[in-house]
Amino acid sequence: MNILIMGTGYVGVTTGLVFAELGWNVTGLDPDPAKINSLSQGKLTFYEPGLDTLLLKNLKSGNIHFTSDPEMAVRESSLIFLCVGTPSTPDGGADLQFIRQASENIGRYMQEYKLIAVKSTVPIETNPKLVEWIHNAQLLPIPFDVVSNPEFLREGSALQDALNPDRIIIGSSSDHAVHLMKVLYEKINAPFFVTKPKTAEMIKYASNGFLATKISYVNELSRLCENIDVNISDVAEGMGMDPRIGQHFLRAGIGYGGSCFPKDIHALLYTAKQYEAELTILEKVNQVNQTQSSYFLNVWERELGTFSNKRIAILGISFKPDTDDLREAPSIAIIQQLLECQAIVRVHDPAAKLPSDLLSERLQQFDHVEDTIERCDAIILCSEWDLYKKADWAQLRALMNQHFVFDGRNVLDGKQLTALGYHYHGVGRFM
Ligand code: UGA
Repeated sequence: MNILIMGTGYVGVTTGLVFAELGWNVTGLDPDPAKINSLSQGKLTFYEPGLDTLLLKNLKSGNIHFTSDPEMAVRESSLIFLCVGTPSTPDGGADLQFIRQASENIGRYMQEYKLIAVKSTVPIETNPKLVEWIHNAQLLPIPFDVVSNPEFLREGSALQDALNPDRIIIGSSSDHAVHLMKVLYEKINAPFFVTKPKTAEMIKYASNGFLATKISYVNELSRLCENIDVNISDVAEGMGMDPRIGQHFLRAGIGYGGSCFPKDIHALLYTAKQYEAELTILEKVNQVNQTQSSYFLNVWERELGTFSNKRIAILGISFKPDTDDLREAPSIAIIQQLLECQAIVRVHDPAAKLPSDLLSERLQQFDHVEDTIERCDAIILCSEWDLYKKADWAQLRALMNQHFVFDGRNVLDGKQLTALGYHYHGVGRFM
């Protein structure tokens, strides 16, 4: 089977490279010629650990190539993965224009049976819409199947997640399509869960919603812990020892960001409204997340006295470490609030860059941690890159004016920092 990947974002490229690595013949299709050019030369258009080496290797072996020609790409493939974006619409729904364009290209150019697997996160009941769009674009009535195959990759560890998934969800009522999907994933060691397409679509949203709920739950508890002199990290550790609760996604912090959780929760709330159901828990999850960074910024401001005319270093601006993705990153809201408080903000990130139109005399980005924190009054850690965890904090202290460290991810060694003479304060966590 020749595999076509439509959309070359991090999901598309990771999926394509994993199948190329497993020996399939893979084509990556994207309408953006700049992306295709860059990928064809072995350069990723985003930062994702491990993918660059795999890209070069599979380009060299000829197992993967990239194109912006949909006609050839569709004709020459038998299995098509849809990995295009589904951004939020202004009212919180999911914009399906890229899914629709891709479906119409498939319909228009197909000349024999195709299996289309939807990896993009799409609202409930998108599967039949795709069938309709492909069908309407067809010149001849050629058979095809559309399977919902949601992905559960995390940015920053996409490759490992794709190679070792916890489960492979296949939403389809066609035995033939399910068989082909099983053949495709044969070399991946993970359980299959075969279900209806709309159940598969729901599983994806429900999973992200649940993970976000865990985070907002500990984040809200961190506010109480703050007032009762209890460390939320210890509480989470104790809770996580119960396998029914589990230790993952219980790390309190300045809130979740990224291209998935915020968008998917809005989309699920939107769907709930459409179907006249109320998801009150998820509404609160969203509300806690939207207020978490400002809640703790206020706590930290009281500790510092004021942010006005203070030099504040932000370490890590990406929504999480090991990515350069700034979408919905809590750091952005923090920077905005600091600027409103008349602070002088100095930013560092190993991979992410602030857009140049945001930079000003009061907001600058530096290439080195040392330059960033020079004569600063406080450091706010917004994403937990290893670089910051392993930094020589004794040496850094000498560069600062005052020695406040506000740990927005609860990952630094507060005891050690306190012993070094810092005032350490995390999120519901102090020394
Ligand atoms: C998330 C899911 O984890 C993936 O399973 C899913 O495939 C993906 O969305 C998607 O729908 O495409 P991702 O957004 O890349 O993956 O990153 P996560 O590791 O889930 O982190 C999301 C946010 O939650 C980050 O801002 C992170 O800092 C925050 N987080 C995570 C916490 O605040 N506390 C935690 O304990 C864990």
